[in-house]
Amino acid sequence: MTEPITTPFGFASTADEVLAGVDLTGKRAVITGGAAGIGVETARSLAAAGADVVLAVRRVAAGEQAAADIAASIGAQRVTVRALDLADQDSVRQFVADWDQPLHILVNNAGIMALPELERTAEGWEMQFATNFMGHFALTVGLHDALAAAGGARVVSVSSSGNLFSPVIFDDLHFAFRPYDPLLAYGQSKSAEALLAVEVTRRWAGEGIHANALNPGAIATGLQKHTGGLRTPKERQKTPQQGAATSVLLAASPLLDGVGGRYFEDCAEAPIVSERPADYSGVAGYAVDPGNAERLWSVASDLIARRGTGRLPRRPGSAEPAQDRPSGWYDWGGGGSCGRGRMAMAGRLPGRLLLRREDSDRAPLIVALLLWVMFDAMPGLWRSVRRSGESGVPDQLRHGQRPR
Ligand SMILES: NC(=O)c1ccc[n+]([C@@H]2O[C@H](COP(=O)([O-])OP(=O)(O)OC[C@H]3O[C@@H](n4cnc5c(N)ncnc54)[C@H](OP(=O)(O)O)[C@@H]3O)[C@@H](O)[C@H]2O)c1
Repeated sequence: MTEPITTPFGFASTADEVLAGVDLTGKRAVITGGAAGIGVETARSLAAAGADVVLAVRRVAAGEQAAADIAASIGAQRVTVRALDLADQDSVRQFVADWDQPLHILVNNAGIMALPELERTAEGWEMQFATNFMGHFALTVGLHDALAAAGGARVVSVSSSGNLFSPVIFDDLHFAFRPYDPLLAYGQSKSAEALLAVEVTRRWAGEGIHANALNPGAIATGLQKHTGGLRTPKERQKTPQQGAATSVLLAASPLLDGVGGRYFEDCAEAPIVSERPADYSGVAGYAVDPGNAERLWSVASDLIARRGTGRLPRRPGSAEPAQDRPSGWYDWGGGGSCGRGRMAMAGRLPGRLLLRREDSDRAPLIVALLLWVMFDAMPGLWRSVRRSGESGVPDQLRHGQRPR
């Protein structure tokens, strides 16, 4: 067990304080939901430290306004805006397809909370899970090559103390069986975001990509529009600049170099708790569990693969699907065919055949069948054809019989 990570910063630190003296010149950052609340302050501080920042927003006009405000406050034009609707996988795919540069920092910040009624995306996914997790999952996987190309990239999952309200319920992600509950749905999505950081680090740390998750604290923003505003006692509330402090710590502070797969709050690693504390501090064990993280990645990959086109997010600037395929899929190469029904061609990947993992269990049977056809059945048929003479007329016809 390693010691929890601490920093000189804490509850009241601001994002600007955390980045004081940090030079991000030449670094590129994407911040989802950067047009409002904590996202704006995250963008402001990263840009003030020299980073080129892209606000990935669903309301482009609001994004342009935020970019102009930031430019005025830092005295430099380092913030641009691109359209991204995380609840729409086609929009995510387009954002990824349009991205063609190395990416040093990805802050998965956008979020919605406690939609009063059950809402679903076009795929039928529960809306908070779809926006807060599935959109960010597809974005992160889609930007993998750009992150790897940065030669040391950070991914930040803006989670929440909401993680303490629900694990990811793998058997009913979209409330098809259990009654919909606005906070349980939010909690599930925030546990999922924390797990994304764990699995990104496990998979990609070798490529210099590290991811961590965080709870920003209690900040009065548009997030609470469905819950009647922020009810946290005043002394435990933060300003948006303070709320962005842990985000920028994970995104850009040298104090966190090489650290990944962890969950922070108040600029320090949070304790892992086995029951929900009265002050909602800490992270539930299930939200940082490596087994859950690996399973979620596989489940999310399958959800995306099965939607509409059945294609995976594309690499930046490439006509091919991302090579980082879901872990449940094997690339068998070649162009053969076997295992009817669940066989799936991977987008436009020519001549490639993907078999699902459960089909791989049948591989010995399929190979035996092929061998039997090649060495037993085929020679028999061939002998029969040869016996029928040069014309290739089957025996029964040579002997004057007519086929029925
Ligand atoms: N504020 C808190 O107390 C608190 C506590 C814990 C965790 N958090 C987390 O902190 C993050 C930022 O929240 P905030 O407090 O800054 O809330 P906010 O002011 O409401 O900002 C959320 C941002 O996410 C964007 N967004 C929502 N749905 C989107 C979609 N489908 N596609 C793209 N963008 C979308 C929003 O865009 P629109 O402006 O177009 O709606 C908005 O810019 C969230 O992940 C939230 O869960 C906040």
